[in-house]
Amino acid sequence: MINFRNIENHTFKFSNEVNYIYGQNGSGKTNMMEAVYYLSCAKSFRGVRDSDIIMKTKEHFFLEGKVISKNKTSKIEIGNNTKNKNIYINKKEIRKNADLFGIFYPVIFSPQDIFIVQGAPLVRRRCIDRLIASLEGNYIKILKDYNYAIEERNKLLRDIPDSEEEVYAAFEEVLVKNGLKIFEFRMKYINIINSFISPIYKYFAGNADDLSVFYKSSFDIESQMNLKSKYKDSRNRDIILKRTTLGTHLDDVEIFLNNEKAKYFASTGEQKTIGIAIRLAEARVYSSINNEVPVLLLDDIFSELDELRREHLIDSFSNKGQIIITSPDKYQVKGDVNYIKMENLDA
Ligand SMILES: Nc1ncnc2c1ncn2[C@@H]1O[C@H](COP(=O)(O)OP(=O)(O)O)[C@@H](O)[C@H]1O
Ligand SMILES: [Mg+2]
Repeated sequence: MINFRNIENHTFKFSNEVNYIYGQNGSGKTNMMEAVYYLSCAKSFRGVRDSDIIMKTKEHFFLEGKVISKNKTSKIEIGNNTKNKNIYINKKEIRKNADLFGIFYPVIFSPQDIFIVQGAPLVRRRCIDRLIASLEGNYIKILKDYNYAIEERNKLLRDIPDSEEEVYAAFEEVLVKNGLKIFEFRMKYINIINSFISPIYKYFAGNADDLSVFYKSSFDIESQMNLKSKYKDSRNRDIILKRTTLGTHLDDVEIFLNNEKAKYFASTGEQKTIGIAIRLAEARVYSSINNEVPVLLLDDIFSELDELRREHLIDSFSNKGQIIITSPDKYQVKGDVNYIKMENLDA
């Protein structure tokens, strides 16, 4: 890592089992996690611009990672100087971020995961879309084309509302076609998540509460047949509102704890636990389909858990893959653990 946030020049060597990185607040633990994640998709998990990641006073950052997966070694290199981002896999430059997908898939657990429960629908859509994109090769393109059609239709509604029928219809056709695909993919994955999540929650929380998720679509299944005319019918309303009010870009995933909506009924502690269980389910779904365990990044959630839950969390995955844990405090973790102290990072 070079000039990546507060880390000027450092190499981390992780074991393929449990790695435990500890050090005081502000020492760069989350930044290190962000770098690992960045290598997987050329994006920050914090939703910031690349210019925020470059070390202050510097002009570029550089990351290099060696990933061993399914007996294959890949060297990933990413350089970024705000104007250009250059990505190389095994010394070959790639054009799209999406070409990075599939080398490795990190699942990040962080205190922010409470927002999966508390946050806006967008947070949950992003979460499920990222998982699907990592497992279904054509999903990114489907989403991109859908989002482009939404943008263009919204431009019409705002700027040229009296456009010709064909102009509207062209974009609405994409919304119908891709919207249905998005709907089907999300339904499929929500169902798979549901088949895992209840026992995961019970084990991790250590109680008998029942967790489930439910895909809430802006169009019901019966109305899918005449979606095209629904878009047509909604134009007048959408022109007044200046946006497209029908489609999968507005859908949500509802989370229920004992049949009550967790967003409104679960306590803060329960919401945190639900966030972790959802991440565990994400990892489980990924490994069940891809036959490859994801890399688990546990950023600063350890110190908030009691001993039993720390053990349950590690037990869920130990001996099955690589885990990177960060914490201000050094807790003893069972098994063969690679402890790294975060300080004097200039080598
Ligand atoms: N672009 C940047 N350049 C230099 N320092 C940065 C940059 N972005 C964040 N930092 C610094 O990184 C530190 C936070 O690191 P972080 O990884 O969040 O620490 P923690 O170990 O608590 O997780 C802060 O001191 C912050 O000022
Ligand atoms: Mg941190």
